[in-house]
Amino acid sequence: MRRLCRVGLAAVLVTALCVLTLVDLPPQLPEPPLDPPPTPGEPPETRSIVAYSWARRLALDYRNSKDCDGNGSSRMTSDGHSTKWLETIPGQLFLYSAHLDIRVAAYPSVRVIGVKRGLLQTSPLFCTIWYEEDGRMLSLTVDALISDIWLEEWGGTTTDGYIGILATCSFPSSKSIEPISIYVGPIPCYEDPSHSLVIPSIDKINPTIRRQFTLCIKGLDFEDDVSEKLIAFVELHRILGASFFHFYVFDVHANVLKVLSLYERSNVVRWHNLTLPGDLPNDKEGRRMLFEKDVWIKRRMELIPYNHCLYENLHKSEFVVPIDMDETIVPLRRKHWSQLLLDERIKLGKSFKDYASYAVRNAYFFPEIQKKNGSLKNGMQNVDYLDSIRTSIISPEGDSIKSFVSTKRTLTVHNHYALSTLNPAVKRTHHFNSKDVLKHHHRVCDEQHLDCDLLMEDVRVDNSALRYADELGARMKIALSNLEKIE
Ligand SMILES: *[C@@H]1O[C@H](CO)[C@@H](O)[C@H](O)[C@H]1NC(C)=O
Ligand SMILES: *[C@@H]1O[C@H](CO)[C@@H](O)[C@H](O)[C@H]1NC(C)=O
Ligand SMILES: *[C@@H]1O[C@H](CO)[C@@H](O)[C@H](O)[C@H]1NC(C)=O
Repeated sequence: MRRLCRVGLAAVLVTALCVLTLVDLPPQLPEPPLDPPPTPGEPPETRSIVAYSWARRLALDYRNSKDCDGNGSSRMTSDGHSTKWLETIPGQLFLYSAHLDIRVAAYPSVRVIGVKRGLLQTSPLFCTIWYEEDGRMLSLTVDALISDIWLEEWGGTTTDGYIGILATCSFPSSKSIEPISIYVGPIPCYEDPSHSLVIPSIDKINPTIRRQFTLCIKGLDFEDDVSEKLIAFVELHRILGASFFHFYVFDVHANVLKVLSLYERSNVVRWHNLTLPGDLPNDKEGRRMLFEKDVWIKRRMELIPYNHCLYENLHKSEFVVPIDMDETIVPLRRKHWSQLLLDERIKLGKSFKDYASYAVRNAYFFPEIQKKNGSLKNGMQNVDYLDSIRTSIISPEGDSIKSFVSTKRTLTVHNHYALSTLNPAVKRTHHFNSKDVLKHHHRVCDEQHLDCDLLMEDVRVDNSALRYADELGARMKIALSNLEKIE
């Protein structure tokens, strides 16, 4: 027992050191707390003990399910919901998507991503899971465990604000049931399966397609035709190691949709239309105005597609990488992400698995400081991903980082790193050495959040992205000619 405590104490100290550096800018977010977010229904004093034992935590979190009455005669009347939000408490609870999670074999569950508004007075919440047995549709009900996809310490929340949630609905592993659809709301044994979310079936989760890196790109919202930039983004990241991309779309130029559809056909991209829940605006102008005025709601709503992307890829990809279209993760000593990760795995040894995400530090490649490189041909000098002048200052650890997020060890994800971990003893994030890899950030300097004069005072040449110029040029040429063919 004493040894266990010592190990636990060490883990807490390391976590403390690790999370103290996780400061998010802009806007400035205070340090995340030392403990993972508490689970509702768990007395606070047990938290520190439970954190040492995952098995204990799982057992504490487990809720018995109960079979619902009804003869299970009715087949599903609808194939459920797809892109629209499913409202289960009027004005207060909106469900986005449902995913089977069999990472812990003894505790299978369905994870439901949604958004709550305000404090959700109606508690507890219940899950109703429909499944098929001998050709009949049956259902069971279980308490929902709700965790916020946000940390209270980050503030920006009001009593009627919208916050993302992850609802966990466990079902008995003894029954070999295959969940078909789910409802999470105030009513146990909910009776209307047409008002439910479809759970992608386990057959569709093909274990033979196991990718290493999948990119998650949050709600695109561009007035301009950025289709060529999008092609450069996809092709450069394919060279770096990404094999699949999830794009979420608010509003883009028709040509951008054409590019997404082209890549979708060759099974490189999946894209999703994105809307906001409840009474949030879904017209272009209204939404843009809201996000400009209220950066907190923008931040919180971004976490919905990122977590959807994580759960879509739980059993398909080793890592997901939430990233923006003005960013690239460029290794320095190596050319490919897989080599970069392998090096880190060797360097960290066994402790590699003690982290849920692997963070890359940020360096600004402001367009204001670039000198166009005459030796780049065929329009490649206009591809800003190849820019080679950056600020000498590298953003501190935790600031504007982007991460390779392990789908094995992450419970919820934030745009910079794993927000909560599946096993509470696993730490959120490990930082790569900035001599091994940098995240290149190609954006105009923002005086409101950055000291632009100071940053631009000292700049240096960084040619690391230029190594990809020839291959990128060749790939872009092919993609552009394919695009012309479908026009
Ligand atoms: C339930 O279904 C079984 C056959 O599947 C049938 O024998 C039984 O009468 C049904 N019960 C009710 C209440 O409908
Ligand atoms: C997104 O919405 C548009 C317009 O309603 C539609 O044409 C398109 O097929 C949708 N795309 C996806 C991937 O659902
Ligand atoms: C221009 O690009 C070439 C490779 O195409 C590279 O060798 C050279 O260093 C670059 N010059 C600058 C100033 O970045």
